[in-house]
Amino acid sequence: MEDIVGLCKRRGFIFQSSEIYGGYNGFYDYGPLGVELRNNIKQAWWRDFVQRRDDMEGLDSTIIMHPKIWKASGHVDGFSDPMVDCKESKLRYRADQLFFAPVNVDGETIGYVSVVECIDQQEVAEKAAAEMKRKMAKQGELGPIVLKDYTESKPEEHAFIPSPATGKPGSLTEPREFKLMFETKVGPLADDSAVAYLRPETAQGIFANYKNIVDTGRVKIPFGIAQIGKAFRNEITPRNFIFRSREFEQMEIEYFISPNADWKALHREWIDTCTNWLVSIGLPREGITEDIHPEDKLAFYSRATTDLMFKFPHGEQELWGVACRSDYDLKQHQEHSGKSMTIFDEEAKEKYVPHVIEPSLGVDRTLLAVLSAAYTVDEVPNDKGKVEKRTVLKFNPKIAPVKAAIFPLLKNKPELVEVAQKLYKKLQRRWNVFYDASGAIGRRYRRQDEIGTPFGITIDFDTIEKDGTVTLRDRDTCEQRRVTEDELVKFLEEQIDG
Ligand code: GAP
Repeated sequence: MEDIVGLCKRRGFIFQSSEIYGGYNGFYDYGPLGVELRNNIKQAWWRDFVQRRDDMEGLDSTIIMHPKIWKASGHVDGFSDPMVDCKESKLRYRADQLFFAPVNVDGETIGYVSVVECIDQQEVAEKAAAEMKRKMAKQGELGPIVLKDYTESKPEEHAFIPSPATGKPGSLTEPREFKLMFETKVGPLADDSAVAYLRPETAQGIFANYKNIVDTGRVKIPFGIAQIGKAFRNEITPRNFIFRSREFEQMEIEYFISPNADWKALHREWIDTCTNWLVSIGLPREGITEDIHPEDKLAFYSRATTDLMFKFPHGEQELWGVACRSDYDLKQHQEHSGKSMTIFDEEAKEKYVPHVIEPSLGVDRTLLAVLSAAYTVDEVPNDKGKVEKRTVLKFNPKIAPVKAAIFPLLKNKPELVEVAQKLYKKLQRRWNVFYDASGAIGRRYRRQDEIGTPFGITIDFDTIEKDGTVTLRDRDTCEQRRVTEDELVKFLEEQIDG
């Protein structure tokens, strides 16, 4: 993760927000390359899930909506995370990310260890337990360390569980609910009636507009409404770079189906479609797994939820949630707004409130997954044939921030520069391409490898003196071949626009 964070800063992908004031925890800014990558991910999603489907409508609803929406959806009363504070260090933890275990020696509990959720939490806890046994000079066999999260702790255990910050037992508070929605005030009055919320998910904007789209569009069941937009959550512990932040973006679909539909089959179809899409933008299929939520842990409105998990640098974590949300949200809005949310199903000749399948994906998490999958350090020969290490981002050309770099072999040969500039201007009309004339050609290649530019195009003397062909270099294999301008454009079209 450190290498990725370092590269992102050095090459202008992602910066900590408000860095000149020491940074602002949980907020990130996207620099010149980051914004291109981000836009490309969003465009690929929009194209594949909205424009290339006949059963999907797009939407862009507001971030601040009528507060009654959040009452109806259950967010005002229930959208919170369990939190504990360390009274000594003043650090705050999400209770479900704070793990503890009793330390048993020959069956006797000699104390407790605690650890904040991390990729090697089991090892950390086991080491701490062995250290405790050693310090207390206990003879006997150390029992297995079985970690549980703090929400599963019993009140009588609290006095013995140490704070991960200080290692001292008894300094953690009881878990309490911490509300995740950011509040603001709308209008000239600053009293409670002015309280509004920054949306914590884009989904409710879809439910709130469902009736508008049914009434104005020509949709028929099953159909979906898709939206990309910012969401805000006052996360207790934003961490792991852009994985969990307080301002992030979601790409969400509410797919409306008949209550009588084979929802299990449709759910499966959506899980497969989502997995295939992740693979299509460059994630390795073997890095994606499914986490099926057990029935007893489902939210009360959910019939089934499967998370697509990805092997991030900090561990295997949720990337995309695919939930069957029943008719809960529409029924809630029907009740709270007094507006009917029914639809007439022409085929079945019946009227009902549809159920939904909800694939919900974070833009920032996708970007982190794409960066992690692309980040590679390999060895390639330099200009002089000497093998050296290089850092390369192996982005799929569809989402690469810069699609191709155009190099005149020498910058002081006007005839090379003129042809290179002409080609650059031509390609720039269609794609984000880069022109670079300075430095040895090998170094220019490396600079582009590091930001993931898939193709290098060099204009050399053969181009101007012989047949007009250019050298096309592949970022991953470093192989070069000569192509005509027509062949080049066709190739780029296939690779980038697919
Ligand atoms: N409408 C359903 C919903 O919002 P969620 O599981 O809370 O469900 C969906 O969020 C997706 O949004 C997650 O799978 C993740 O990709 C992204 N996401 C959620 N919270 C996030 C955060 N704090 N930072 C970045 N991405 C987040």
